[in-house]
Amino acid sequence: MTATTKQNETKSLVYSTRIDIPVEMRSQVNILLNQSLATAIDLKTQIKYAHWNVKGKDFYQLHLLFDEIASEVEEFIDLIAERIATLGGKALGTARIAAKESELPEYPFDAVDGTEHVIALGDQLGNLRQIPP
Ligand SMILES: [Fe+2]
Repeated sequence: MTATTKQNETKSLVYSTRIDIPVEMRSQVNILLNQSLATAIDLKTQIKYAHWNVKGKDFYQLHLLFDEIASEVEEFIDLIAERIATLGGKALGTARIAAKESELPEYPFDAVDGTEHVIALGDQLGNLRQIPP
């Protein structure tokens, strides 16, 4: 699917709303928000992967920490999705779409101990697109 096809497909998902923002602008914002939604869902599942699979002497503390971080990311996922809907779009937040559209690389499955998971998650956070000020 080309970028233009994807944009056109997303544009067709914009409903009318009383919000005084032109439909073209809402479409463009929703394309960006859906990209962020896919990436955030992917990030959350990667954090849960670390939560479930971390091993070693710091297991318990990191197990709890990773779960807390995943919960924080979940709140952002909900905010992003609901903003898309508010702007008249469809929140394209299924696992299949997230896997296809995420900007993150795959999680390093060879991470085992706490330090390896902390480094892996730090690298993934560093991969997130920086929003210009
Ligand atoms: Fe858990």
